[in-house]
Amino acid sequence: VVDEENPVGLQLLLFLILGILGHFGTHRLIPGIRYYMLKRGICGKDLGKKGTDREDVDVPEALGIVPGAIFLICLMFCLVGFATNHPHKLLDLNSALLSICFMLFLGFTDDVLEWPWRYKLFLPSVASLPLLCCYEGSTSIVVPIPLRSYLMHAGELTTFGKLLCRLVVVDENAYGSIINLGTFYLAYMGLLSVFCTNAINIYAGINGLEVGQSYIIGCAVLYHNFIEIQSNGESAENHVFSAMIVVSFLGVSTALLRYNWFPASVFVGDTYCYFAGMTFAVVGILGHFSKTLLLFFIPQILNFVWSVPQLFRFVPCPKHRLPKFNAKTGLMEPSRVLLSTTSGGNRKQVEIANMTLINVFLQLFGPMHEQTLCIALLVFQSFCCGLGMYIRYNLAQIVFDY
Ligand code: UD1
Ligand code: MG
Repeated sequence: VVDEENPVGLQLLLFLILGILGHFGTHRLIPGIRYYMLKRGICGKDLGKKGTDREDVDVPEALGIVPGAIFLICLMFCLVGFATNHPHKLLDLNSALLSICFMLFLGFTDDVLEWPWRYKLFLPSVASLPLLCCYEGSTSIVVPIPLRSYLMHAGELTTFGKLLCRLVVVDENAYGSIINLGTFYLAYMGLLSVFCTNAINIYAGINGLEVGQSYIIGCAVLYHNFIEIQSNGESAENHVFSAMIVVSFLGVSTALLRYNWFPASVFVGDTYCYFAGMTFAVVGILGHFSKTLLLFFIPQILNFVWSVPQLFRFVPCPKHRLPKFNAKTGLMEPSRVLLSTTSGGNRKQVEIANMTLINVFLQLFGPMHEQTLCIALLVFQSFCCGLGMYIRYNLAQIVFDY
């Protein structure tokens, strides 16, 4: 309900209008920028169209720069509104802008210059510094009930436990139930931005998946924000802040999705993956709901865990692990990598599927059309976000009493 007694409703309506304007701005600008990207040779081949008449078509890359730039403009307008309604939140908003802007810039340089893998890991942690420096929230965590007695015993028995308890100042009033992680908590938040940015980037490779997954996670975050705003608790303002960022993000992302959906006429590039990941890290950190945020990242966590052997090179990792297109059937099949093993003194070469969640889907359900595969993965994403929401609102009370 929008009236003068309900400034939150009015603010949300203004954010919505900005998001809609952002959507149409992005939609209009993409064709123009697409042309310039092609002209400058910032383009790639769609590997999922090999053997078809689209095989040699150059698809412009890094188009995430358009929604990213429009998103920043939307947030700058929000700054104006925020300055009057929530002046004490301006530092948060400015640091959010700086972190996202820096990540967008890094993503774009990655698309143009192709950074080595080790930089990709390191850069998001630098980009999150502005956020961490102005973070004012608590650095304490509530220990899950079943772990409390272990923690107390560990503190008394082992040297490592004693050391750990000395480092993390245990709240005197609630011994064992709240621990203050201090600097470690800041390190955790830095790692969160490294995770969010890279997790989206490595769960990619078929048309529409990068933007699709970000869109669904964004909707889940927004829904969570609405529930918290409605409950009108003390953290409601943080959730208004988060909703403001996410509404603009969803507006610009849906415009990009229209161009990136199968058959893609643009690629979103690392620019978009980093931009989206950093946006989620920002709302999770400044909105103080980073654990809930991670519940919406279940598919990305599964994909990351399953990818670990390849990411850390225990198993060879080719540049591209996206599924292989079979031009005869027109379907996607799991892509494979050669693995050398030694058994009984003989060196043998075996072929295994690249370790990604996308390939696992193809192994479980058989070859699929690229669009069907994308829809199936997005349905799975929605299911996981629903599950995350259920855990957050129904199961969390069992292990946390705060
Ligand atoms: C990450 C993945 C890689 C995956 C790639 C595709 C890891 C460690 N890296 O690498 O396995 O193959 O993303 O996004 O998991 N492309 C398509 N169709 C699409 C999207 C991309 O064919 O729908 C191809 C295009 O050739 C495009 C290229 O992927 O030019 C972009 O790859 P890039 O983002 O540079 O790969 P990485 O992020 O390094
Ligand atoms: Mg990428």
